[in-house]
Formats: sequence, C-alpha cells, structure tokens
Amino acid sequence: MDPGYTFVLILGKARSGKTTLEEQYLRAAIESGRAVKIVDNKAQFPPGSLPGGYCSEFPGVDNIEDWLADLLRSQWEGDLCFDDMDLYSDSFVRKGSPFRVLFTEYRHHRISIRASTRRFQEIPTLARTNTTHYALFRTEGHNMREAIKRELGQETLDKVPTKPFRYLLLDRDADTAVVYATRARATKTRADF
Ligand SMILES: Nc1ncnc2c1ncn2[C@@H]1O[C@H](COP(=O)(O)OP(=O)(O)OP(=O)(O)O)[C@@H](O)[C@H]1O
Ligand SMILES: [Mg+2]
Repeated sequence: MDPGYTFVLILGKARSGKTTLEEQYLRAAIESGRAVKIVDNKAQFPPGSLPGGYCSEFPGVDNIEDWLADLLRSQWEGDLCFDDMDLYSDSFVRKGSPFRVLFTEYRHHRISIRASTRRFQEIPTLARTNTTHYALFRTEGHNMREAIKRELGQETLDKVPTKPFRYLLLDRDADTAVVYATRARATKTRADF
C-alpha cells in the first residue's frame, strides 16, 4: 500500500482562505501529472481556470452518493477535492454510504482527499480518524474551538493563526505543526468582486 496517499481536512471560518489552499493543491497535483476532481457546489473553478481542462463539478447533494459509488467502481485514481464537504454530512452516517468506503479505503483506491469545511463538528469521527493532515485556518465560535481542543488539544488550538490566509498544517504521522501562508488566488471568481 502506498503511504503517499493523503487526506487533508481543511478547516476554517468563512473567507479564511480554504478554497484558495485547495486551488494550490489542485494546481500542484495537475502540474505533477495527477488527475483531479473538484466537487464544488459554488462552481469556483470554471472551465479554463485550471490547467488540463479541469473544472468544478457538482453532481448535487441528492446524487452525490451515486456519483461517488460510480467513481470508486470506475477505479479512477487521483486527487479528489470536496469544497464545503459538510454539505454531505447526512450521507456520512448512512450505513452503506460510499463516503464510509472513501474515508477508510482511499489509499487502496489510490485516491488522495482534500476536503474543506467551516463546520468541524459535522465531519464524522470516521473521517477525522483517517485524515493524514489538518490545515487549520482561523476559527470562529466557541463550539468550533471546543471541538478542535477536544480533538487536537489546547496546545494545537493555541497555534492556529488568527490572521486570514494563514494556516497551521498538522502532519499527523510526522507529528509536526507548521504555519504557512497561501498566495492570492490565481482563479478570480464571483467571491473576488
Ligand atoms: N492569500 C491570499 N491573499 C489575498 N487574498 C486571498 C488569499 N487567500 C484568499 N484570498 C481571498 O479571500 C477571499 C476568501 O478566500 P477563499 O474563498 O479561499 O476562502 P474560504 O475559506 O474558502 O471561504 P468560504 O468559507 O466562503 O468558502 C477570496 O476573495 C480570495 O480570493
Ligand atoms: Mg471556500
């Protein structure tokens, strides 16, 4: 089994820079020759915005399980990016959901996962325990801070940046925590005007 497949959970308040980090991961993946898929209900990556002809797709909340089951069956390999993953939280808990297969067997399927959310609490334990990395942008609200503290400890919470567009990258295997900043987005979208 290749240890190179990763599951990065990107967490942060509204407009903290999550999708911008996803864009950077997507560009790096495409440049190194990996296939990508971007599940994004806001269509923030229109055709032409990324190299290789890649763009947002949105099968819809009602169809996401069929879409994901088909993807896993097709033996597609690459980096699978879910923007605002908490949209699908109802599916995570359902017995037989392909999300449960994805979260536990992504390496076996030769898929890496990048997923963003504003709502840490809605990401199930099954997903959290299978992450390899957390990217923690600035947070908001008592509940989210408590959830981070419970899951990752006060020491980690204290290191989460308070400025926008900076994030704490936790590598859970290497047990490291480093602060990075993103660059401004190359893709201009509605959010930028
Ligand atoms: N490093 C950066 N430098 C300058 N502007 C940035 C940077 N990162 C993000 N932005 C801008 O900040 C805004 C919010 O960024 P982004 O969409 O990545 O945040 P988000 O956390 O995904 O927000 P949301 O929760 O609404 O999905 C966008 O207009 C984006 O272009
Ligand atoms: Mg976003």
